Amino acid sequence: MELSGLLSPINLALEFSVAILIVSVIIRTLKWCPGDAIPTLPMVGMLPSLFIALQHDIYKVINYLLRDHNGTFVFTGPWFTSLKYVITSNPTNLEYIVKTNFSNFPKGKYFSNNVRDLLGEGIFNADDVAWLRQRKTASIVFHSTEFVNMNCESLVKLVHHRMLPILEGSAKDIDLQDLLLRLTFDNVCMIAFGVDTCSLKVGLPEIPFVKAFEDATEAMLLRFITPTLLWRTMRFLNLGRERHLKRCIGQVDEFAEGVILTRKKELSLNSSEKKSRSDLLTAFMGLKDEGGKPYSDKYLRDICVNFILAGRDTSSVALSWFFWVLDENPIVQEKIFSELCRIVDQRKENDSDKGSEDVDVVFKPEEVKRMEYLHAALSESLRLYPTLPLDFKEVLEDDVFPDGTVLKKGTKVIYSIYTMGRMKSIWGEDCRHYKPERWLKDGRFVSESTQKFMAFNGGQRICLGKDFAYYQMKFIAASIIYRYRVQVAKDQIVAPKFALTMYIKHGLKVRLNKREKSEFQK
Ligand code: HEM
Ligand SMILES: *[C@@H]1O[C@H](CO)[C@@H](O)[C@H](O)[C@H]1NC(C)=O
Ligand SMILES: *[C@@H]1O[C@H](CO)[C@@H](O)[C@H](O)[C@H]1NC(C)=O
Repeated sequence: MELSGLLSPINLALEFSVAILIVSVIIRTLKWCPGDAIPTLPMVGMLPSLFIALQHDIYKVINYLLRDHNGTFVFTGPWFTSLKYVITSNPTNLEYIVKTNFSNFPKGKYFSNNVRDLLGEGIFNADDVAWLRQRKTASIVFHSTEFVNMNCESLVKLVHHRMLPILEGSAKDIDLQDLLLRLTFDNVCMIAFGVDTCSLKVGLPEIPFVKAFEDATEAMLLRFITPTLLWRTMRFLNLGRERHLKRCIGQVDEFAEGVILTRKKELSLNSSEKKSRSDLLTAFMGLKDEGGKPYSDKYLRDICVNFILAGRDTSSVALSWFFWVLDENPIVQEKIFSELCRIVDQRKENDSDKGSEDVDVVFKPEEVKRMEYLHAALSESLRLYPTLPLDFKEVLEDDVFPDGTVLKKGTKVIYSIYTMGRMKSIWGEDCRHYKPERWLKDGRFVSESTQKFMAFNGGQRICLGKDFAYYQMKFIAASIIYRYRVQVAKDQIVAPKFALTMYIKHGLKVRLNKREKSEFQK
């Protein structure tokens, strides 16, 4: 206690000089390229190099570093600061973190302090008992029939009544990533809150809640590359992006509180006037905590905000990269189209749907399940472009990685899911090539173990929405590809953005070429 009290003025002075001096002077002088070694300077450690790396493709930089350090790399920040990370992509280490010694690798205090303002005590920011309890309950809700049915219905509505009419009416190039983000945002708000946020509609309006949510996530992430004392001081003084963050969180809270209040009123009505609902909020409202009391409004807010974060930009960003990869691999797009035609043909044989026009086709849940080639194509694109490229843990007690790296209690660990998807030792010499076939055996999809494929994480904290995400992505992709041949605009620059989720930095402008009638007659 006393020691840290003594250090803090020194800390503060140091950290301020780091931020101001280094960034401005050194970036310009060091002509650093990805692939070069990361220089470590006295006092300020590798922080300047990190800022330089951020000017490049950070994920590629991490790939180079991990390759040169045999899979595990220690990043050191300025003296006296909290910036020290062990970065790894060694599959045995990853297995150790997420499964074998799971309880020794919680999200931890550092993570928690960085994200608590936005995520509260929600599932992403919970460890131990609090996490397990939330996970169990959410898992039951997530797999209930009503919930699954509601998801399918809301997707039909969003895709067929909102997205396709917009696509139909678009004469020019259209930003598909933006459109998909809106779609999944509206979708996840229906799932979490039972509310229609209507961000996907003609004119593509800016919805304040959506914008606030986006900005808040981004500002929160920046805390991870800022010395803790610096952002805490900024928060205390209500300055800069901390000030913006606070305002955005205020808007998110206001939205959530509004929905919770309305729902409580609705639930107190007598049963004949009640709407039947099966969203997450309603489900959790009907439950009691371990003390036998209903959950507090704050806790309900946290649960919903976390689910929106989980479901909002994950599937849409994954789909955006998918369409980008398809543009480079047109044969795959045509193979998917053939698969869809085959499925629709089979439907015609079962007489009940005879005569339905091709353009009106709404894929049914059991048909989506049969899209095995599409499933493989999506998995392969997630391997190369995992939506969550990096994940974060903290070491609880002194430990040693299977590769021998010594971990002191409190060490922060980053594991690179991105790098793991591109390792020769795992995927072979052709690991950089997009090949859906590697997921297929005799035409059927075969899933990979999480020792190879970690896009959905693995072990005890494996993505809770995986099945839903696949369903959602397949339904959306199939509905588009069945109607259009998607082509990325010629002038589109494609690079990943450094964010919690790996957005395409400048969006994804595409041209949609309507499929000719003759194409359907195979
Ligand atoms: C392509 C789409 C998706 C990908 C790649 C993905 C990936 C992941 C990853 C890597 C994690 C681990 C995060 C961590 O522990 O730090 C995770 C957790 C989670 N995901 Fe997903 N996800 C996707 C879609 C979804 C969707 C659509 C939902 C729900 C609507 C969802 C719900 C969750 C939840 C609740 C967790 C937390 C699980 C826990 O901590 O126990 N995910 N996901
Ligand atoms: C797991 O973590 C503990 C510390 O909590 C450590 O003592 C132990 O050696 C680790 N290894 C295995 C294989 O459990
Ligand atoms: C690199 O890591 C692998 C697997 O952990 C190990 O077998 C090998 O000896 C390491 N090589 C070097 C040069 O350290």
